[in-house]
Amino acid sequence: MGTLENKIAVVTGSARGIGKSIATRLAREGASVVVSDVNGDGLEAVCAELEAAGAPKAVHFAADLSVEEGAQGLLTATLDAFGRCDILVNNAGGGVIRPFLEHTPETLRQTIDRNLWTALWCVRAFLPGMLEQKSGRVINMGADSVHTGTYSHAGYNAAKGGVHAMITGLAFEFAKHGVTFNVVSPGGVLTEDLQAMMSDDAETLAKYKMSVHPRDVAKREIPSERFTEMAEVAAYVAFLASDDASAVNGQIHSINGAQWMM
Ligand SMILES: NC(=O)c1ccc[n+]([C@@H]2O[C@H](COP(=O)([O-])OP(=O)(O)OC[C@H]3O[C@@H](n4cnc5c(N)ncnc54)[C@H](O)[C@@H]3O)[C@@H](O)[C@H]2O)c1
Repeated sequence: MGTLENKIAVVTGSARGIGKSIATRLAREGASVVVSDVNGDGLEAVCAELEAAGAPKAVHFAADLSVEEGAQGLLTATLDAFGRCDILVNNAGGGVIRPFLEHTPETLRQTIDRNLWTALWCVRAFLPGMLEQKSGRVINMGADSVHTGTYSHAGYNAAKGGVHAMITGLAFEFAKHGVTFNVVSPGGVLTEDLQAMMSDDAETLAKYKMSVHPRDVAKREIPSERFTEMAEVAAYVAFLASDDASAVNGQIHSINGAQWMM
């Protein structure tokens, strides 16, 4: 028996990467899952994979969640399919990573939209139902670059800093209603994109304009000398979503191989 039997989970930004890995883990723990992404390609196939992994039912909803209508549409699709939501994972995001002065107004807006507005609108859409049922889990995907700084991350950190900060006030305001708010804050994660950069050939280094191989970056900057696996992030999200984590609220949880410590 999984830890999330009979739970309904919504995972945003789950067409690929860490979001897909989280959705798969929650499905494996027995949750029914709604996957949602602005990129609808492949979402149907993701649902089939989730049901094979253990989800009693998985449904998908394609939308831009950085606008209120997108988040409200996701809520409607979730209620139509399952009647309620127990777990909301605000994973949609990703950076437009570049030196600060090379950002355009457009790329700065995209960065805030993808990371911060998606989380804000989804919380606003899903929270009233959680308050009514007197239980819920909201888990935001943050980033440890907020703490470490990291080259070319100022715009991204502005967005993720907001994602971190929003949960403290929410936790304080709604703790007595049985809803918890937490942030999972990874350092570097070995996603499909990073895996593609791991090749040793000169062509790959040139393609991604890398002067240092990512493996050497990990050795130099991360005490564990490796990037975090997507499944390790997903396992932590599954714990925070479980009944065992009911007293864990308003916290930023770094997953970073000891790269940064409080
Ligand atoms: N990869 C890392 O090393 C790392 C480190 C720290 C934090 N994070 C964060 O973890 C999360 C997942 O990272 P990833 O590497 O898997 O990213 P990714 O870019 O592979 O996936 C993010 C997904 O979010 C979706 N998305 C973006 N904007 C959206 C919108 N407006 N509406 C709906 N969906 C939208 C994208 O289409 C994409 O499928 C992100 O929030 C990212 O910022 C990643």
